[in-house]
Amino acid sequence: MDKKSFYITTPIYYPSAKLHIGHAYCTTIADSIARFKRLAGYDVFFLTGSDEHGQKIQRKAEEEGIQPIEYVDRIVAGFQNLWKRLNISNDDFIRTTQERHQKVVQEIFRRIYAKGDIYKGAYKGLYCTPCESYWLERQLDENGCCPDCHRPVEEVSEEAYFFKISKYADRLLQYIDEHPAFIQPVSRRNEMINFIKQGLEDLCISRTSFDWGIPVPMDKKHVIYVWFDALTNYLTPIGYLDNPAMFQKFWPADLHLVGKEIVRFHTIIWPIILMALDLPLPKKVYGHGWLIVEGDKMSKSKGNVIDPIGLIDEFGADAIRYFLLREINLGQDGNFSREALIGRINSDLANDLGNLLHRTLNMIGKFQNGIVEKAVGTNAIDQSLIADAEKAVADFETGMDNMEISATIRNVWAFIGRANKYIDESAPWVLARDAAKKQELANVMYNLVESLRIISVLIAPFMPETAEKIWKQLNLPQKFEAVRLSDIKQWGVTPANMHIGTPEQLFPRIEVEDDKNIQHAVKPARKTEVKPAEKAADKKSEITIDEFAKLQLRVVRVLHAEYVPDTEKLLKLTVDLGDERREIVSGIARHYKPEDLVGKNVVMVINLKPARIRGIVSHGMVLAASKGDALKVLSVEMPIGSMVK
Ligand code: MSP
Repeated sequence: MDKKSFYITTPIYYPSAKLHIGHAYCTTIADSIARFKRLAGYDVFFLTGSDEHGQKIQRKAEEEGIQPIEYVDRIVAGFQNLWKRLNISNDDFIRTTQERHQKVVQEIFRRIYAKGDIYKGAYKGLYCTPCESYWLERQLDENGCCPDCHRPVEEVSEEAYFFKISKYADRLLQYIDEHPAFIQPVSRRNEMINFIKQGLEDLCISRTSFDWGIPVPMDKKHVIYVWFDALTNYLTPIGYLDNPAMFQKFWPADLHLVGKEIVRFHTIIWPIILMALDLPLPKKVYGHGWLIVEGDKMSKSKGNVIDPIGLIDEFGADAIRYFLLREINLGQDGNFSREALIGRINSDLANDLGNLLHRTLNMIGKFQNGIVEKAVGTNAIDQSLIADAEKAVADFETGMDNMEISATIRNVWAFIGRANKYIDESAPWVLARDAAKKQELANVMYNLVESLRIISVLIAPFMPETAEKIWKQLNLPQKFEAVRLSDIKQWGVTPANMHIGTPEQLFPRIEVEDDKNIQHAVKPARKTEVKPAEKAADKKSEITIDEFAKLQLRVVRVLHAEYVPDTEKLLKLTVDLGDERREIVSGIARHYKPEDLVGKNVVMVINLKPARIRGIVSHGMVLAASKGDALKVLSVEMPIGSMVK
């Protein structure tokens, strides 16, 4: 049987400026849906591209003294680079300047003209060049400007071709009425119904005052209106003119994902073009909200544009993707802020997800020599974990099918939290001390690997790189690209005696103060004696027993030590806390060689806020006594994991 198909598009972007994080938002949503559908077994065609014609582009090129094609080539190369950096999995990239597209646009124009739905007339009216939109006097804002972007409109008067959209208004209203899923969310649907009910005027679809466009086939001094040209991009790459089998497979499109301000073009002009061509209408047009910065839509003219490449360089593509998809509810506007981004990275990615993987792999390394044994039997805690995993997969599927992306991610994270709790509930470090509990311990490790196997698939549409990294660290035998949703509907797929891969940190915590946070051991040792005034101050800073109890001190063993390159004082230590391993940076390199420390049991503060020191995230601090130039770490002959009180 043929696979089910799914055709999804983003808008094609104007190369009038560099793309910003708002554009990246739109494309990331589409990418996550495309990836989900592939996981669900669909044959997906995911299209994005660039909308390169029109007066706005011609003017930009003139300002720079270059040909429009040189101008767009340069900017479009930037788009393609951005989508690559963001791991956008589009199957094609359409440029409206490509010959394949020009052929389609001209043929469509010819067909509709032949049918009598395009006629020649004279246009006199108002035009907003930045939006490439025609307006009527009554539609302008209170200042007589464009109602969308609020910039001045221009009077244009020229001979032009018109498209009889008025003829189709009733048919369109009836279609919208009979297909509640066609325009979503419902607020946009209502807006469009009201707009159409106010009456549709025939649309001017050609211009003569500039020439950067596709010529009208039967009258070459006219170029075709840029929206008429742009909307038809959705038909070009799926073989409208040259590949009937492909066209049949993918048309009508399953989803046009667009920003809320261009829903009007996609739910009025576009369906009417399709009706005039006797083609079925797309199944869904979804108008998403905008990414805003401090309450304002991002735009170059407002100077609040955030460059996605800079953010990807700094935080990585997956962290940016995660933030955009998790933070904003699809139909609504959402705010972008650096603080919120860092907050999400630290709490959701470094802490919840990173710790689950880290703890699991470390325990398998420590308790089972890195080998995952098959589980035999289940207890009540295991059964509840398995039931929650099943529910997580089912909720994921329904959530994504309903385009509730943020809520879906929240559910996946609830399961990550559940798996972290499973570790605490089953206390593997206790089981490890008892030879009779060997199988129970193996079961816990197995169940954690199974949970992580499922989690890596559940996060794949949102964070494809991280998902694959987890898969590789678990060392699962199945090829990651071949994994489908059906594989995680079964529990117990991980084979027996699988050797796990090398654990690596997924997301280091981001310290806002960063290097300011370096611990005492790195600061210069105090040279002078304590003065009386300082003694008084010391007294004032007395702490209560409760405050002291906040400090968690533990005996840990140094497993590995090495110099931090290009520093004199810093050592990077890997320490064993009993139930986990951690990396810390300690400023004791002048007093200890790495080999002097390995094997020592030392006292460490384990609940110190992590800090990034010379690019290494330090998760704790080793205690040391110092006087003058002498320094000795606190070392005790007590078992690893002992509490120091
Ligand atoms: N070229 C037209 C689309 C033609 S589709 C046949 C266009 N291009 S655009 O570059 O101006 O915008 C492309 C998409 O980016 C739109 O869906 C728009 O809503 C989206 N966004 C632009 N700024 C945005 C935000 N700040 N936030 C979210 N999406 C934003 O319109």
